[in-house]
Amino acid sequence: MIPQTMYDPARDCFTSSSPPKPQAQSPSKNSRKRRLPGTNRDSEEEEIGNVPSRSPSPHRPLKRPNIRKERALDPLPAESSHGEPAAKKPCVGVDVVKKHYNDRREIGRSARKYSPIIKLRAFNNWIKSCLIQKFTPYTSDHPLVVLDMGCGKGGDLLKWDKARINIYVGVDVADVSVSQARNRYRDMKRVGFEASFYVLDCFRRSLRDVLPRDHPPFDIVSMQFCMHYAFESERQARTLLENVTRGLRLGGKFIGTIPNSEIIESHLKEGELKWGNQFYRVEFEKPLPNGCFRPPFGHRYSFFLQDAVEDVPEYVVPFGAFRSLAEEYNLELLYRKPFMDIFQEEKQDRELGYLLDRMGVVDQDGRRGIQGDERECAAFYLAFAFEKRGVRLQAL
Ligand SMILES: C[S@@+](CC[C@H](N)C(=O)[O-])C[C@H]1O[C@@H](n2cnc3c(N)ncnc32)[C@H](O)[C@@H]1O
Repeated sequence: MIPQTMYDPARDCFTSSSPPKPQAQSPSKNSRKRRLPGTNRDSEEEEIGNVPSRSPSPHRPLKRPNIRKERALDPLPAESSHGEPAAKKPCVGVDVVKKHYNDRREIGRSARKYSPIIKLRAFNNWIKSCLIQKFTPYTSDHPLVVLDMGCGKGGDLLKWDKARINIYVGVDVADVSVSQARNRYRDMKRVGFEASFYVLDCFRRSLRDVLPRDHPPFDIVSMQFCMHYAFESERQARTLLENVTRGLRLGGKFIGTIPNSEIIESHLKEGELKWGNQFYRVEFEKPLPNGCFRPPFGHRYSFFLQDAVEDVPEYVVPFGAFRSLAEEYNLELLYRKPFMDIFQEEKQDRELGYLLDRMGVVDQDGRRGIQGDERECAAFYLAFAFEKRGVRLQAL
């Protein structure tokens, strides 16, 4: 048997070892063909979620990663790279956010049907499905591994199942939400991926604090409706990006959804500190200090979304600054699109257009889309995707 080299993150070097017996073969190219929307029993807005020990879907045997072949996660320093020690003191901002999401009841799919923002919820779920489908590879020579940062109650589990991933890791600062996400996964029927869940403040702590040392790198890191909590300070934004880039494999994607800073800026430039409608409200305490988001951190506003978010502090993510900062972490921008542009581009797509119909994102005449106040609220957001670039480590 020929000894093989493998990266040992504990010692930060490559070591020789005899290859272990393979547990499973790599998935064949065809095995990762995407499922057509609508072929799954559950509808997108009825997502439910699960636990590592359960057996995977019978129609798609789970391929365990051959960890020996993977570069393990880049080690994270105990201190963040910008020289400040990882924070230990509880932070008021994160406590408010954590409490808010922990206190929100999991209302279940039938009650969700009566939500006053049912169309908006469905639309946002559709946007996330578009993003996931766009940036999850159709085929892969290795098991697909996904990190859902700020996974909440596991609202995207079914979307990831449809994208035919193999391993899912969900992390969130809100412990109650994490256990609800775990239960959701446990209750999922015929799920095709293995999942694990961790409680973690992704803006103040390292992923290494919770993940097994030899965890395979991620193909996708997803951050849906969460990153605007990180831009409270440079340190938090950097810790988050360090977690993303160290977790991703080369060529891996970082995808997400955030409020569009251009829209916020245009309101503030009109002298409006407060705006919204019956469904949502944005409220700043003071005008921009220099008429712009410079420095780009700490621009706080209070956000209200009916039936979802009750006046929780959020922070503007000035997109230009976010992009420049991401570049420092070898993350190169691939895609930035406001939600309504995504809708215009994808609404006639054979699969995604059909998904809009199935998810009920149609008016009373059956035309696809959302209208009025819900539309204004959806237009507040944009979606992004970055790719991890860099030099591939060669085994010695
Ligand atoms: C609006 S919810 C979105 C949940 C989920 N991503 C979705 O799209 O349904 C925002 C989530 O971000 C989480 N979050 C906020 N700050 C966080 C932090 N510092 N670390 C990890 N998760 C955080 C919250 O607990 C909450 O679950």
